[in-house]
Amino acid sequence: MGDVITIDGPAGSGKSTVARLLAKRLGYTYLDTGAMYRAVALLVREREIDLENKEEIKSICENIDIRFLQDEDLQRVFIGDRDITHDIRTSEIDMLSSHVSAIKEVREAMTYLQRKIAQNRNIIAEGRDMGTVVFPDAKIKFFLTASFEVRAKRRYLERKERGEDVTLDKIKEELKKRDQQDESRRISPLKPAPDATIIDTTDLAVEDVINKMLFYIEKS
Ligand code: DC
Repeated sequence: MGDVITIDGPAGSGKSTVARLLAKRLGYTYLDTGAMYRAVALLVREREIDLENKEEIKSICENIDIRFLQDEDLQRVFIGDRDITHDIRTSEIDMLSSHVSAIKEVREAMTYLQRKIAQNRNIIAEGRDMGTVVFPDAKIKFFLTASFEVRAKRRYLERKERGEDVTLDKIKEELKKRDQQDESRRISPLKPAPDATIIDTTDLAVEDVINKMLFYIEKS
């Protein structure tokens, strides 16, 4: 197994941006585990599978061929040869991926894939349960937080930039629902590992967060 640095936290805490940039700095592979749950959700939606149909969902997870391709400023996500980078970033997939990720069979399959990816490379693993469940032995663990207002604003600006017609109120409503769902699910709920370093990014620029992380990494 290569070196693993875990970064967990709620939606909008800034973890994706920071994880991607930190991976670039350290020459590690960036593993966006949220994108894996989103890819499963996309197939569940497109194939119109009921969330109660665990057999079908399990079969999707066992056969899904998720691939990542690191572009200059963006990590592209594929299922086989199909580029799903943009298809998985809609409000609908936000919510559905959160629902799908509460299913035991899905978590087991994704955990297996994530550990397999980490077998022969150094990775920055970003998600909700990286430090608690998937890589409990990782030497370095971070948990990012930020105030609800700031997280909602970040999501809103992201969506606006993409040309979506959204309101801040709608984003707040969705974020609240997703937070509640991710934190209260029975299996692998969102929470910091006891040995994680917690960084509040509310008033920090991306570069400040990265510098804090590099400081901890160098110290450890
Ligand atoms: O990080 P994200 O917003 O792309 O994640 C989408 C959903 O996937 C999120 O609402 C919860 C779920 N998820 C998870 O349960 N475990 C992970 N390690 C990553 C994401």
